[in-house]
Amino acid sequence: MNSPPSRLEDEQFRTPLFDAMVSLAESHKVSFHTPGHKSGKGISTRFRKFVGPRIFSIDLTTLDEVDSLQNPTGVIKEAQELAAKACGADRSYFLVNGTTVGNHAMVAATTGPGDRVLIARNCHRSVLTGLIVSGAHPIFFQPAFDRDLKLTLNMTFETVKQAVDANPNSRALLITSPNYYGLCADIEKIIPYAHEKGLIVLMDEAHGPHLKFNPKLPKCALETGADMCVQSTHKIVGGMTQASMLHAKTGRVNIDDVTNTLKLLQTTSPSYILMASLDLARMQMATEGKKLLNRTIKLAEEARAEIDKITGITSFSKERAKQAGMADMDVTKLTITVSELGLSGYTVSHMLNTRFGIQVEMADPFHVLVIVSIGDRQDDLNRLVEALRMIAVETGLQGTLLPLDRVHPPQLMNRFAMTPREAFYSDTEMISINQTIGRVAAEIVTVYPPGIPLLVPGEEISKDAIDYLQNMAGLGAIIDGLNENNSLVRVVKA
Ligand SMILES: Cc1ncc(COP(=O)(O)O)c(C=O)c1O
Repeated sequence: MNSPPSRLEDEQFRTPLFDAMVSLAESHKVSFHTPGHKSGKGISTRFRKFVGPRIFSIDLTTLDEVDSLQNPTGVIKEAQELAAKACGADRSYFLVNGTTVGNHAMVAATTGPGDRVLIARNCHRSVLTGLIVSGAHPIFFQPAFDRDLKLTLNMTFETVKQAVDANPNSRALLITSPNYYGLCADIEKIIPYAHEKGLIVLMDEAHGPHLKFNPKLPKCALETGADMCVQSTHKIVGGMTQASMLHAKTGRVNIDDVTNTLKLLQTTSPSYILMASLDLARMQMATEGKKLLNRTIKLAEEARAEIDKITGITSFSKERAKQAGMADMDVTKLTITVSELGLSGYTVSHMLNTRFGIQVEMADPFHVLVIVSIGDRQDDLNRLVEALRMIAVETGLQGTLLPLDRVHPPQLMNRFAMTPREAFYSDTEMISINQTIGRVAAEIVTVYPPGIPLLVPGEEISKDAIDYLQNMAGLGAIIDGLNENNSLVRVVKA
């Protein structure tokens, strides 16, 4: 006989925010407040016809019945408390501008002008924009590039230890884990060591909102002792686009500072639809996440095995990632290596989209990356495997292999003339990319995806960084932060 559910489990079936929204919508009160479409009555007919009328009845604003995100005392407070319990935080916050605003808040709430923050270079640009808000000084360290797997790995304990030991008196450490490819930094060793050295540990866990809910997945940030983490609930589990969560532990972090910083950064008109999706996604994960993720893991692992049988295509396993020195890997990410076909990831991504109607998460010179989630079904994975098989047969290993050295990310210099904030507020000019070596960047420039920053405001520009940018642009990567034809870079005026 099954044991009766504990009170904690019972509680996680509750969705206080969503319930209050439905109840208010069903009360059909007359609205003389925002939003101006008044429960959809004023919305464009085309929009209403496509999505149906009900969604507009829960597009609400801050009202007594549904609480306030800026100053929660009712159902939003309850919903955030349930999220904190489910995720193992002391305090959780709903975010309506994605993990981007969570990164801004983590950095700005814990660091300020004069502080030094150790940052793993494989960070999202929002970590850097957080530095522009905070005024802190970054010290970057870089994960290694694995020539066999043909991608940038995540942080090992040794690399982080070296950076921590070389920079005493720093205030915080910021790690991104898992990375886009599901590779995990060795946080079980890194976090206790950083704490021992007096650092606050911040984690961008954009790609890990599901980890807590299935023991077959890598350990999550809060379980391993991170002080704060931010998760893109919308990327991997059931949140709607832009809906993320920020989680904090008390002790090293001042919760009032976090609350105040989020008040500064978040809108006073948050979307209740996004917030409801967070309430429901948390309930779904807490009550049936394990089962849903078991199916997801099985789908991903079976697809990986099938893809591996295709001549010229591979998808590395958790065991292979561990051999490369990684602490763990989220197996729901399928990194599909296509370079043996003599095709780039960009070409295969384009073929999958235009010929087979399959859209992948991202492509790089050697791979396409597929996110398998609780929304996928067996048929979707079968279709992917079949399409890859056809591409492999048609191509027949005829293409030219890309020379690895052209696309091997450079070791960046980490030489800062000023802080990112100072560079951002300096007088700047746009100059030809060929004249930038030795100048100080005033713009974040990333190769997208995955968006790892090549140029950071305040940092001296190196020849290696420019060569890499030009190589990647030539291969069809999207470069974010330059002008439209990738010829001009914003730098601080000399
Ligand atoms: C590691 C990482 N952090 C943060 C972000 C930003 O997240 P969001 O799109 O939810 O704002 C991304 C987006 O791709 C990301 O990959």
